[in-house]
Amino acid sequence: MKQSYRNIKGTFDILPIDHSADGSEVASSAQWQFIESTIRRVLGRYHFAEIRTPYLEPEGLFERSVGVDTDIVSKEMFTVPRPKETYVLRPEVTASVMRAYLQHHLAQQPLGQRLFYIGPCFRAERPQKGRFRQFHQFGAELIGSADPLADAEVIAAMIAVVEALGLEKLALRLNTLGSGDSRGVYVQALKEYLSRFERDLTETSRRRLVTNPLRILDTKVEHEREILADAPRLRAYVSDEDLAHYESVKSYLEALDLSYEEDPLLVRGLDYYCRTAFELESPNLGAQSAIAGGGRYDGLAQAIGWNEEVPGVGFAAGIERLLLALQLHHNALPAAAAPDLYLVTLGMEAGKWAFGLARDLRRLDITVALDVRSRSMKAQMKQANKLDARYVVIIGDAELDAGEVILKQMEEGTQQTLSFAGITEKLADICRSS
Ligand code: HAM
Repeated sequence: MKQSYRNIKGTFDILPIDHSADGSEVASSAQWQFIESTIRRVLGRYHFAEIRTPYLEPEGLFERSVGVDTDIVSKEMFTVPRPKETYVLRPEVTASVMRAYLQHHLAQQPLGQRLFYIGPCFRAERPQKGRFRQFHQFGAELIGSADPLADAEVIAAMIAVVEALGLEKLALRLNTLGSGDSRGVYVQALKEYLSRFERDLTETSRRRLVTNPLRILDTKVEHEREILADAPRLRAYVSDEDLAHYESVKSYLEALDLSYEEDPLLVRGLDYYCRTAFELESPNLGAQSAIAGGGRYDGLAQAIGWNEEVPGVGFAAGIERLLLALQLHHNALPAAAAPDLYLVTLGMEAGKWAFGLARDLRRLDITVALDVRSRSMKAQMKQANKLDARYVVIIGDAELDAGEVILKQMEEGTQQTLSFAGITEKLADICRSS
């Protein structure tokens, strides 16, 4: 039978199983939970507190922060038109976090300046390996400090999470984008230089020459890279203050022995950055090699309408890309926990009694599976095996009459009879002790 609905291209289901219908390896919900709990644990140690903002936001929030001329805003936003205004599905979270920070006066709250998040983002990109239309980011934002230590702190936190997940030897690329007027002067110089080669540029770069010339520095097209070899260097335009900030960030990273590569061509696809910009790459992920990226955004608050500068710096990582990198490294993630105990029952009365036992055991935090389809004993045993249950308790009407159950230890194949007296505690103790 043909199924009428399937998930939308570029989105995916997270299932309790670790393979899809075509047999390919996918991460199970238990593996997602493991990643998420690792993120929470590590970012918690860095003393970031979780923030959850809505998936729907006003369109203007991203137009004014990420920038109307960026790909993300000009081509990739999912919009939801409403009678009075247009909502969008958030393409990233930094602008939302800054909105919430300002709206709720988090500057005055002890827990308000170090915020982390985990959740879906939406971008209408062309789906391919490692690139989705609904994907999941986790990230951290440190708001309120212009100090270079804050930049190093978020980079250190980002690396701590990926290391805790077992990913090492990722390449950290670092650059300074300068700020304010000096960047304006540079953009003008770059524009003038590139205009001389306009005919040789790709259509995308020709468009960017008008809308967002800095992004051309990021090109992967070989002949454009050659043209860029002699282009004016951003670094030459960066102010002494910005350079000093950059040097301090590097020295803090060095204090932690964190290695990085300086990449003067690294620019990010979002407009709100100034000073520090960075990306974390996994060399074998191909085209979608960026696992995480971030930087400083001291102008963001003003861009979204605040009347004074609020310094901030942060990062976000793509969980799907992390999973791909983990797969490539053959890092096994933990599977779903098996039930402690499976209740095999036969007959209506025994079924009712066992139903009560299951509830009592679950109250004591024991994971209990049972059959709800009145299947044969053989089928129930088979199911217990498939689920990898550690123990099976067998109870039929005969056992009920005798006031006892049969307990089977599945791995060793041993079994014993237990009388009803104190049965819940007895079973709970056995499950806990092994
Ligand atoms: P971003 O570089 O646009 O930065 O995204 C961060 C990460 O999200 C990327 O490195 C990538 O791993 C993942 N990602 C982005 N698009 C997709 C996609 N279509 N499919 C799968 N994964 C994707 C930001 O979003 C900034 N808000 C980061 C930041 C935080 N800057 C300061 N604070």
